[in-house]
Amino acid sequence: MPDLKNSFYTLLVAGTVFAGPGTGVVLAADTDLAPAGRGAAIEGSGPDDEATLARGEYIATAADCIACHTSKGGKPFAGGLKVGTPMGDVISTNITPDPEHGIGKYTEQQFDQAVRHGVRDDGSYLYPVMPYVSYAGMTDQDVTALYAWFRHRVKPVAESPPATSLSFPASMRSSMAVWNMFATKETPGQGDSATYNKLKRGEYLANALEHCGTCHTPRNFMLDEKHDRYLAGGPLSGWYAPNITSSVSSGIGNWSEADIIVYLKTGRAQNHAQAAGPMGEAVEHSTSRLTDPDLEALAAWIKQVPAMDDDLEHKPRDSFGQAVNAPDIRTKVPSRIDDLSEMTGPHIFDANCAACHGRNGSGTDDHYAPSLFANSVIGTTRPDNLIMVVLNGVNRTAGKDHAGMPGFGADSQVQRLSDSEIASLVNYVMGTFGSGDPHVTAEKVASFRNK
Ligand code: HEC
Ligand code: HEC
Ligand code: HEC
Repeated sequence: MPDLKNSFYTLLVAGTVFAGPGTGVVLAADTDLAPAGRGAAIEGSGPDDEATLARGEYIATAADCIACHTSKGGKPFAGGLKVGTPMGDVISTNITPDPEHGIGKYTEQQFDQAVRHGVRDDGSYLYPVMPYVSYAGMTDQDVTALYAWFRHRVKPVAESPPATSLSFPASMRSSMAVWNMFATKETPGQGDSATYNKLKRGEYLANALEHCGTCHTPRNFMLDEKHDRYLAGGPLSGWYAPNITSSVSSGIGNWSEADIIVYLKTGRAQNHAQAAGPMGEAVEHSTSRLTDPDLEALAAWIKQVPAMDDDLEHKPRDSFGQAVNAPDIRTKVPSRIDDLSEMTGPHIFDANCAACHGRNGSGTDDHYAPSLFANSVIGTTRPDNLIMVVLNGVNRTAGKDHAGMPGFGADSQVQRLSDSEIASLVNYVMGTFGSGDPHVTAEKVASFRNK
């Protein structure tokens, strides 16, 4: 049934093009969300007591609702973030308790229908950009708490973001009913999620709340997550969410639980990896705010995920490279350069990167700028994340720590690099400190701009 398949495909791309910095899951709004330590079991009787509200706030943080429901510079939860798709933008809605513009008129049952089943109060279907297939795994008690918190503690905002209008056939929300029949959803958790044992709590956090698989699990032709390749890696809007299974050759099997915890809490695990782009945002707004026991549970769960190997990666990504001095171009610039392209890699590195990452790639002494060898982004065979980082930089706050690297793309504050300059740079950096020259072309870099 090729036609059906085809139209599903077109239709569903809407549901999977996940926001990256280019398309905008970039949050500027500062909210006083969830200090850590709020995972306590519900005490007291009424559904809207303080313990319930605290639980709701923590669930909202762990589920990272703010990531998509706040536009750049916009008011918290007022919606308006555009998630770019080939057919147009899916725009997140206002989920503040304003009765006209937000979800103030939603009953708890209607809220549950939207969050766990993808159906709006008017009965129409939501696009699966809203990760209800993951949230379907939430317990009843946690949905109740989430509803109470949105109702009583989120400030109403009387603004309506522009409506989503996708082109045909994705405009037919009703077709999502068919997709929903095929899509694999989480099964609702039972009982009190705060009393789960460590591994079960970790699974609940990873699958029902944090939705790690939304980005890290590849998708089939229906754009449903491939559950037999759970967390084996997948592309999203220019970035590549790497294989984080326990495979030693292709995943993070050589990371300890402590490495995973420090990565999720701070956004960096020295000599392994850093979190930029969508992962930087997930760390900033969600994982860095989890309690220590929850981080330990999450790491224990991730650590035991069955190993999945990868056709392209055969050696741990963080095991490549060593300090190599870039040629000293300051003293050795030839008086006449006939072929600039032969010089550009080391030149561009020395001029734009060496000040922070060192001429030999070993980073700053305090590791604020990381070393470029023993670094997942350079040791992978996929140059995607390096290209994205060079274009967009890094801008991540976790607790009191800020990690900032300038971008070198079109709106750079420091230096704009052309497509061919970035291609030469990426080939030089990966060839010198990583898995080898990936032969990136200027055309390839061009395709990453505005992703
Ligand atoms: C990955 C992005 C993303 C995340 C994370 C996300 N949402 Fe959404 N949500 C959306 C988008 C986009 C829409 C609008 C979809 C559409 O128009 O079909 C939406 C729609 C909704 C709606 C329907 C509102 C209406 O009447 O239109 C509700 C309610 C909602 N989200 C609640 C939540 C809650 C609660 C959370 C956290 C538990 C959350 N969302 C997390 C993207 C997201
Ligand atoms: C919004 C999409 C998204 C979500 C949700 C997400 N990740 Fe990621 N993750 C990424 C991307 C993209 C990268 C690559 C970041 C980079 O290289 O700067 C990444 C990188 C990582 C890495 C580093 C791996 C390596 O070898 O470089 C780990 C570990 C990780 N994520 C774990 C998790 C866990 C655990 C969760 C759930 C709690 C999660 N991620 C949720 C997108 C996501
Ligand atoms: C002003 C200092 C500075 C400059 C200039 C700079 N970087 Fe960075 N770089 C950083 C910092 C800080 C980080 C973030 C570390 C973290 O995430 O904790 C970073 C991160 C990275 C990462 C890891 C990204 C990830 O997703 O894991 C790579 C790769 C990288 N830089 C390469 C480069 C290249 C190539 C250049 C030159 C085009 C460059 N940097 C220029 C400071 C800098």
